[in-house]
Amino acid sequence: MMKLAKRVSSLTPSTTLAITAKAKELKAAGHDVIGLGAGEPDFNTPQHIIDAAVKSMNEGHTKYTPSGGLASLKSEIVKKFQQDQNLHYEPSEIIVCVGAKHALYTLFQVILDEGDEVIIPTPYWVSYPEQVKLAGGVPVYVEGLEENEFKITPEQLKSAITERTKAVIINSPSNPTGMIYTEDELKALGDICLEHDILIVSDEIYEKLVYGDNKHVSIAQLSPELKAQTIIINGVSKSHSMTGWRIGYAAGNKEIVQAMTDLASHSTSNPTSIAQYAAIAAYNGPQEPVKQMRQAFEERLNIIYEKLIQIPGFTCVKPQGAFYLFPNARQAALMASYSSVDEFVEALLEEAKVALVPGSGFGAPDNVRLSYATSLDVLEKAIERIKQFMEQKMK
Ligand SMILES: Cc1ncc(COP(=O)(O)O)c(C=O)c1O
Repeated sequence: MMKLAKRVSSLTPSTTLAITAKAKELKAAGHDVIGLGAGEPDFNTPQHIIDAAVKSMNEGHTKYTPSGGLASLKSEIVKKFQQDQNLHYEPSEIIVCVGAKHALYTLFQVILDEGDEVIIPTPYWVSYPEQVKLAGGVPVYVEGLEENEFKITPEQLKSAITERTKAVIINSPSNPTGMIYTEDELKALGDICLEHDILIVSDEIYEKLVYGDNKHVSIAQLSPELKAQTIIINGVSKSHSMTGWRIGYAAGNKEIVQAMTDLASHSTSNPTSIAQYAAIAAYNGPQEPVKQMRQAFEERLNIIYEKLIQIPGFTCVKPQGAFYLFPNARQAALMASYSSVDEFVEALLEEAKVALVPGSGFGAPDNVRLSYATSLDVLEKAIERIKQFMEQKMK
């Protein structure tokens, strides 16, 4: 067997995808499995967006586009930033990528040298550490404590900084916790980044999924200095239910964006042309579907959260955004006689046929992630199964 490159030898496959694969396997074998592992909205892409893609194909927009994305799409993204966040970007400060994931991947490739450190608050989205490592960087974890709503404090950030610190990732609303940093919290973290000249990578992919009185604020909105210090990552995957179309983007420093565009020109060439036309329609068409989806998520959250915290052994900080619950299940695992939450999650899948994602994949081994991007009926059935599983184990 040919030896694989060192680069991939330490790569950890995505836990989210692994659990989804296992659930699918059980389903294929005839088991009635409920999967709450999904990281994508369950709604189809709004019809007017699909129609725009079909139209673009019929009009012959089926060719290469500029590497950094169509000028017409960039101009919609410029308008979106202006309208939603009062942020002004030039088109040259924006790159359209093959999803937000690819925007992040490309970003780390162009900013990190061997041994450069990136501060990653835990719990984190599974791909951050791997992407940093693939770029030769070193992830430095800072623990967002559950008692502090899984958020990191300015003191924690400060003490993680070394001479090699290049960037810090802020993901708000967060996957997997659903937590949202307030303006004051962002300001305090931002001041430290400015003081130490650390690039802020602000992953705002869940921007549109915010509930109750909570508000999403971008750290880049807080001052011109912070805007200059920040690369915003966003996209249409979660907001417009377009995960399969693969359109995301990065906005910020022109030199960084140019380097990312140069790199993309040798890797993807460009994001899929017709998906870019679909994304234009997503931004310049009606935003009602975005609001309706947000509302549906909020309704589910409110119902399912109350039911979840009734299950013995589960405690949960109420999420403020995104579409995940991230309860602590340490006590539940112990009560059901499992020594780890990982084993508990495995047993839940095998015996109760409910697929959750173990928190270990997100750097939080006492927690589990439940996605509520599925119908309320299914969610209620899943909660019932978990409850019965616990009752049975505690007999
Ligand atoms: C926090 C976070 N960032 C980025 C992404 C990637 O989004 P995209 O589908 O646009 O690549 C995801 C998707 O799960 C996510 O949860």
